[in-house]
Amino acid sequence: MSQSLPPADSSSQLCDADLTALNTLRLPARAHRLARPSTVDELAQVLAERNPAEPLFVIGEGSNLVIGSDLPGLTLSLAIDGMVQVKEDDVHVWIAAGAGVHWDDLVAWTVTQGWQGLENLSLIPGTAGAAPFQNIGAYGVELSQVLEQVTVLDVVTARVEHFAADECEFAYRDSRFKSRDRGRYIITGIELRLRKQPRCDVRYGPLQAAFGHLPEHEVSPVAVRERVIAVRQSKLPDPAVLANAGSFFKNPVVNGAEADALKVRFPDLVAYPQPQGVKLAAGWLIEQAGWKGKCLGPVGMHSEQALVLVNHGGATSADVMALADAVRADVLEQFGVTLEQEPVLLP
Ligand code: EPU
Repeated sequence: MSQSLPPADSSSQLCDADLTALNTLRLPARAHRLARPSTVDELAQVLAERNPAEPLFVIGEGSNLVIGSDLPGLTLSLAIDGMVQVKEDDVHVWIAAGAGVHWDDLVAWTVTQGWQGLENLSLIPGTAGAAPFQNIGAYGVELSQVLEQVTVLDVVTARVEHFAADECEFAYRDSRFKSRDRGRYIITGIELRLRKQPRCDVRYGPLQAAFGHLPEHEVSPVAVRERVIAVRQSKLPDPAVLANAGSFFKNPVVNGAEADALKVRFPDLVAYPQPQGVKLAAGWLIEQAGWKGKCLGPVGMHSEQALVLVNHGGATSADVMALADAVRADVLEQFGVTLEQEPVLLP
């Protein structure tokens, strides 16, 4: 991380802090004040000293963010650490992680222990605290399937609360923390329930190809993690090398009639039936609209995965928005489908 970050403790708050290292699209922006509390008590202290009227932003590693302009008020980058086993029974093990833990460190640790549940979510950028915020998902698995509870600090009451998984209002890339209760709670930690005997989910195409022929007990979380990492590295740019915020749009869900009509016009349409409708592959729509590997100024849609918007260097949020608007307009014109931005826009 950049030297411009303050050390992880509550006493130091950096004024006019550079956020370039705290967003993986590497957009230039500044925070009026930035603090990095490393415990819940430090976080509570920072909040107690804050004027409740001033804006408050929480960022993890900034891997799912578009910072549109400088952030007023107080920005928190949580540095709450720690990964521990909480309890176990014959079948499951429960583990807890601080919000500031790097997500893939958590996946690597659990998989190495032989615990199963997080392997499909390997190499997703970001922190453990950000994982429930957008209900991270990949290769057929969503965090909601293994989440036991989320621990938060209530910004309004200053109390620590726990939300069980079924209280988090999880949906595709969504939760109450991202939607209905945005700004109300600061996620300080998560608790997950993992399996001690593997029952890996290998239904996703490339995993099916690698493991589909094996009996369930022979598919190890370590092997699935390795495969997932290989697939990700072949398609998704490493934000440390090429700035990006992962998928820039959600995969849109249309109703059955719309999907049927599109299928008649575009027989190759990539579509997955869901309980709520038919999910379309936004990457396919963007590629068909001609944007795969194409640039507009310093930004472009990635050459290996058209859903990922990349910053080739020196981009501003205006460049990002111009490309996103152009892609959205072309997909709408060609397919009549509206793409919704996936990363959170701040402020
Ligand atoms: N496709 C294309 N061209 C492209 C990209 C995709 O035709 O340039 C088509 C292919 O047919 C492919 C299908 O789209 O089979 C689906 O592509 P892929 O498996 O790469 O997944 P995705 O739907 O594009 C989603 C998530 C990813 C996650 C992958 C794997 C969203 C918005 N994105 O992408 O998550 O890694 O599935 O499960 O749901 C992220 O959220 O940042 C992210 C990277």
